[in-house]
Amino acid sequence: MRILVLYYSSYGHTLQMAQAIKRGAEKVGAEVHLKRVPELVPQEIIDGDEGLKYGADLQKDIAVAKPDDLIDYDAIIFGSPTRYGIMGAQMKNLIDQTGSLWAQGKLVNKIAGVFSSAATPHGGQEITNITMMIPLMHHGMIIVPQGYTSSGTSTNYGGGTPYGPSTTAGMDGSRQPDEADLTIAEDYGKRIAEVTKRFLT
Ligand SMILES: Cc1cc2nc3c(=O)[nH]c(=O)nc-3n(C[C@H](O)[C@H](O)[C@H](O)COP(=O)(O)O)c2cc1C
Repeated sequence: MRILVLYYSSYGHTLQMAQAIKRGAEKVGAEVHLKRVPELVPQEIIDGDEGLKYGADLQKDIAVAKPDDLIDYDAIIFGSPTRYGIMGAQMKNLIDQTGSLWAQGKLVNKIAGVFSSAATPHGGQEITNITMMIPLMHHGMIIVPQGYTSSGTSTNYGGGTPYGPSTTAGMDGSRQPDEADLTIAEDYGKRIAEVTKRFLT
């Protein structure tokens, strides 16, 4: 069972969620790879922004995904920070390069999941998760929502949606995913791996 956690993160919040999802899926015995999508922000902008520089440095050793990489996995979990209520252009850019995979039906019946991060509690976590599902549906992927399968989704005021995990970074990005956010994310990784396992047998 091979699972890809594919994400974009400017400052590291979505990265931490991706790592927690990976941990959860590994607990169920999956081989899990963490890959980031290519950055689109020009290097000079990154160099002039302390937060972006920190985020880029944090992720410099994480592999950058190519569209064809998606073929190699039984399940793919997509994560993006909210940008004006929807996924970031970096994630959409990678998805927009999967036209030939779509034409060949290469992603049909792969299990899929989504997760997100936003600055404010109502800044778009849910909408980002839901709208990120739309292109995956066009691909014929089988989307596994979190539902209320993690007890934290009902009780945590930081993040966690029935659609997929989320975190809240704060307007200045100073809030980090807390234990409750990360537990929900880890539970989601487990759930995706468990569903994938059942689907494959
Ligand atoms: C161009 C831009 C648009 C953004 N739009 C939103 C938004 O609509 N709602 C929100 O809550 N946060 C918004 N944010 C904040 C990001 O979602 C936040 O920085 C991100 O969740 C942090 O995750 P990361 O560290 O993985 O990048 C925006 C940030 C940028 C740069």
